Amino acid sequence: MRKTLKTRAAAGAAVLALTAAPSFAAGGGVGVIDHDWSFEGPFGTFDKAELQRGWQVYSQVCSSCHSMEYLHYRDLSDPNGPALPPEQVKAMAAEFEVEVGPDSEGEMFTRPAILSDKLAKPFPNKEAAMSANGGAYPPDLTLITKARTGYTGIIKQMMEGTGGVEYVYSLMLGYTEEPPEGFDVGDLSYNKYFPGHLIAMGQPLYGDDVEYQDGTEATIEQQAHDLVAFLAWAAEPQMVERKQAGLRNIILLIIFGALVWYSNKKLWKPIKEGGEA
Ligand code: HEC
Repeated sequence: MRKTLKTRAAAGAAVLALTAAPSFAAGGGVGVIDHDWSFEGPFGTFDKAELQRGWQVYSQVCSSCHSMEYLHYRDLSDPNGPALPPEQVKAMAAEFEVEVGPDSEGEMFTRPAILSDKLAKPFPNKEAAMSANGGAYPPDLTLITKARTGYTGIIKQMMEGTGGVEYVYSLMLGYTEEPPEGFDVGDLSYNKYFPGHLIAMGQPLYGDDVEYQDGTEATIEQQAHDLVAFLAWAAEPQMVERKQAGLRNIILLIIFGALVWYSNKKLWKPIKEGGEA
């Protein structure tokens, strides 16, 4: 008896320890900047204006090195996403050439991109991307906020996510001109939040890298915030629907639970009172 109690206490403590585990990201062991997002928590949603600005940052700064190969141009018109007018996206897509085919003679050919095409990639393949970046591979960014996550504990995870968005946000703001003593940077850059600190990507954002169409001031923090919101949407475009479906199901469960409880009470009432059923 005593033993079981002890084991249970130990199990309880283990669960507590798990839920209270501090957040970490990308296995780097360096804390990240805690930041608030409109899409956090059970009621969180994406902010269209933010996503549109984030797309501007990605397309004008990051897309020269990083692909987002799971996104199609038409996705940019998603009403739960950036909701850009299809006409505008069509015109944007037409500025890029994509390779398609084969034609009737078996040859591949290029044509301007259309809405159903995937976003144009900066490099045709991984080897070309690496050779242009000194041997380092700029990863595809479509799922990057999901790929760089850590376990943050059950409750924190539900309220604030798994840390991927905070990590990418921190990475954007983590460059320092002067590395701490003892770091031989060489061709690389020092980044406070990158695991190991030496990263082959030069600082991509400084502030005023883009001129926002909606007139928002393009500070480095604002650009990092908008960009990461855009990446979070790209990694999970159905997030809002998922949360709404979850809430609907919980409400239904509560209603059904109340009905079952009430019928149970009513059915047993005569028996409990000692009469015949
Ligand atoms: C000049 C090319 C270039 C540009 C522009 C660029 N990157 Fe990178 N990026 C790289 C390279 C190269 C790496 C790989 C770094 C490494 O492995 O050391 C990288 C890595 C990354 C990573 C992964 C870090 C990790 O944890 O592994 C993220 C996230 C990232 N970049 C985001 C961005 C964003 C967002 C932008 C635009 C604001 C951007 N990059 C602009 C070249 C670039």
